[in-house]
Amino acid sequence: MRNQILNKLRKYGPREFVVRGYQRFRRLAGQRDRYNSNFDKRYNIDTGMVVPVDELAFGDRQAQGHAKEHNPSPPYAVMAALKALDKYMGGFGASGFVDFGCGAGRAMIIAAEAGFQNIIGIELSRKLIGICKENIATYAKTNKAAKFVVLEQDAATYVPEKGSDVFFFYVPFSRDVYKKAIANIALSLEKNPRTVYLLDSAWSNMDIEVRDSKYEYIGQMEGINLYKLSATA
Ligand SMILES: C[S@@+](CC[C@H](N)C(=O)[O-])C[C@H]1O[C@@H](n2cnc3c(N)ncnc32)[C@H](O)[C@@H]1O
Repeated sequence: MRNQILNKLRKYGPREFVVRGYQRFRRLAGQRDRYNSNFDKRYNIDTGMVVPVDELAFGDRQAQGHAKEHNPSPPYAVMAALKALDKYMGGFGASGFVDFGCGAGRAMIIAAEAGFQNIIGIELSRKLIGICKENIATYAKTNKAAKFVVLEQDAATYVPEKGSDVFFFYVPFSRDVYKKAIANIALSLEKNPRTVYLLDSAWSNMDIEVRDSKYEYIGQMEGINLYKLSATA
């Protein structure tokens, strides 16, 4: 990477190098904006709504007190992070994807587009579960390979099963709930030792939780942190 930059600097000279760098940045920013703004239209779905916490309509009022509002994840960033992970893992293979707090299903659909075939969403808002299922039903018409499951369950109580290896969090809930989810991932690895991966928005509390534990930091892509956790039998 460093050599590539130095070669280009030599080839173009400082002035042309900066101009080209700026043009590339503008091209990428345009690409990102187009991808994000066309996302729902492309799949004929509706995942862009913001739902404040007091309108989430959880059956469990206590859990709702720990929830963050429904704010959809940024599609370009999630796709870029998943592509980076795919490269890092050498392909997703049979790995399953879990979105802790799946909302209207945006990250689940991006995961399917990125190549996952088993995709689970955990959600407690009945209102969003209904929208999520509708979105998935529409999307599934164009992708028969992906299997989706939406569970109405508190993410604090969900213990991932063998086969679920990539966990996604996009600012879904309080630190207390995060801690429980992290403890349940550890429990899952105790039962079924394997390597799992975690993706999390760089500015959430989760970052602190995982860095304290045995997670290995892989890197950051478009504001999403990637971690790895391995357990052997
Ligand atoms: C920021 S939104 C997630 C967006 C979604 N992952 C996406 O890709 O667009 C957070 C979601 O977490 C859900 N949530 C909050 N607390 C939860 C809990 N304890 N169990 C399950 N879902 C929860 C909220 O209802 C909300 O839909």
